[in-house]
Amino acid sequence: MKRSLLTLTLLSVAFGQPVFLWPKPQSIQWGDVQLNLGRSFNIRGPDIAVLEDAMRRYTHLIARERWDPVQVSDADNVNPVHASKHLNSLDIEIIDKEAALTFGTDESYTLHISPENTIGTLKAQTVWGALRGLETFSQLVQAKYNDSEGEDEDEDEYAYEDDNDLGFQGLFIPQTPIIINDEPRFSHRGLMLDTSRNYYPVKDLLRTLDAMAYNKMNVFHWHITDSQSFPLVLDSVPELAKKGAYRLHGKKLVYTKQDVRVIVKHAHSRGIRVIPEIDMPGHTGSWAKAFKQFISGIYPLFSTCSDRFFLDPSNSWEKRYAAEPGSGQLNPILKGTYTLVKQVIDEVTALFPDEWYHGGGDEPVYRCWEDAKSVRDYMARNNVTGLDLLNIFLEKELEIINSVTENHLAIPKDVVIQVWKNPVKKAVKAGYKVIASSSNFWYLDCGHGQWSGNDTAVNEQSPPVIKKPLQKALEKYEGSDNYNPSNWGGSGGDWCSPFKSWQRMYIYDITYGLSKEETKYVLGGECALWSEQSDETTLDARLWPRAAATAEVLWSGNYDEDGNKRSVDDAMPRMFDWRYRLLKRGIRAEPLQPLWCGSHPHMCDAAFPAGYL
Ligand SMILES: *[C@@H]1O[C@H](CO)[C@@H](O)[C@H](O)[C@H]1NC(C)=O
Ligand SMILES: *[C@@H]1O[C@H](CO)[C@@H](O)[C@H](O)[C@H]1NC(C)=O
Ligand SMILES: *[C@@H]1O[C@H](CO)[C@@H](O)[C@H](O)[C@H]1NC(C)=O
Repeated sequence: MKRSLLTLTLLSVAFGQPVFLWPKPQSIQWGDVQLNLGRSFNIRGPDIAVLEDAMRRYTHLIARERWDPVQVSDADNVNPVHASKHLNSLDIEIIDKEAALTFGTDESYTLHISPENTIGTLKAQTVWGALRGLETFSQLVQAKYNDSEGEDEDEDEYAYEDDNDLGFQGLFIPQTPIIINDEPRFSHRGLMLDTSRNYYPVKDLLRTLDAMAYNKMNVFHWHITDSQSFPLVLDSVPELAKKGAYRLHGKKLVYTKQDVRVIVKHAHSRGIRVIPEIDMPGHTGSWAKAFKQFISGIYPLFSTCSDRFFLDPSNSWEKRYAAEPGSGQLNPILKGTYTLVKQVIDEVTALFPDEWYHGGGDEPVYRCWEDAKSVRDYMARNNVTGLDLLNIFLEKELEIINSVTENHLAIPKDVVIQVWKNPVKKAVKAGYKVIASSSNFWYLDCGHGQWSGNDTAVNEQSPPVIKKPLQKALEKYEGSDNYNPSNWGGSGGDWCSPFKSWQRMYIYDITYGLSKEETKYVLGGECALWSEQSDETTLDARLWPRAAATAEVLWSGNYDEDGNKRSVDDAMPRMFDWRYRLLKRGIRAEPLQPLWCGSHPHMCDAAFPAGYL
């Protein structure tokens, strides 16, 4: 009996999207029976600290969230069949209870909810997969309200901030039986955040980790330091943060070791690895402040060209001292530089338990090295170029990284390359494993206008003449096909404008143009927020819900079960609803459409809606 009912009520495609899940599971089968949660509903599972923590968190979240979808489904089941039983618990089974959270950890899970069983089951290979399954389960649960629409007494509050529980009738799962089989398409699903250009308080980083976990992202790539500030307090070289961190209204904007421990623990308990990056040898202007105080001590002259205007007096771009304001680069010819680098890397890798460490290597500028007479002399004496010096530096840095991490990245081909400008294909062809972060799709900071001062390009009321050869040359330039050396036309003057909309982020296929074999070299990707124009006041809205587009592409993949590319129109209603759900969970994600669109399915579409006539 049981069996035949199950077959009868399993309708997978016919219902469209009865429940909005983000990111979309690899395979879902829905029924049409509504199953209420019992009043004493609980989650049970084996005795594993991370899991116990997660079960507590999700029990609380499910009870508190009382989710009533904002997006009306065009597949709404108006007269659902009600199950006679209640769902009283979700039981979790884990096969490998010891599995550590590393690159490639098994995150698969299956979820079974039957209207004929008071117990739902979540099975996973590892606790990390169970976390993903718990997240999916939480998204299945909805709240029932009756029609007594009470007045909201607190008129100043937004509805989503205020639990308006008038008429709350209980929790239920629509569309059971539900069978979900799920696993990530890519193992590395990351978010990179820069905390140097502007600072984010610890609580904002913790909230970001929460939002990442809701989106099943598993790597927080923390770009901790850069030219502008060095906010990480290190015992071995305390001067770096002491002199190099920002100070605002008398408060030092730093992360202490205790802060880092809190962040790493918070991340770990949500299945997120934290990969630290201390950028070098370029982007180290902030280090120079510490060295200045040590001219006669143990750290003399470890930085070249520090505190110069980033361009040459001729204002020629080619002769610049740094990619952006805040010049200074580690001196590659001094032995002491490497002693310092080793101290920093030793301490940072000890502080962050992950097996991976990001070595930086961003935008070295040879002119900065040539600025120091000692380096110029060295180059002449040894007949080496700036590129040679960079190789020398990176080789030594890698040696240091290898000596302190478990990686044994013996040779450069074992190093994972993060590409933001070059095509993925190029790095793969060269034999590297790749993390994709194309600035043309996944940079969250683009489109907010020029932040440099005195840029004549922003003073244009009428179209300037841009010489054809220049325009042509720029159009050819990979990664900035929208670049315009002018504010005219609305580029706003920032280097990677326009703003990358969630749709733009969603359509990015990081394996585009690769053969099946080459695809294996693509480990995943990261969207990135560089913080020149972002701080705690903007963080949530810069990241969310756009980063959720990256999250779905990396978890679900760009292609569905039938091999068709996932479309923005399938994602739109889910994304719309997901944004409100993030809000309800305390993430200040920005709006994507008028609220009206949520209650008028497809009426906000740009093409005549199918079946509307
Ligand atoms: C709606 O629910 C509230 C409490 O949750 C209850 O007081 C009220 O009587 C209900 N109204 C109707 C019409 O059922
Ligand atoms: C310096 O190096 C270049 C390129 O590696 C080489 O062509 C040149 O002969 C070298 N000069 C001397 C004096 O060794
Ligand atoms: C701003 O830049 C222009 C050149 O683009 C220069 O002539 C002018 O002096 C600059 N203003 C200041 C205050 O430096």
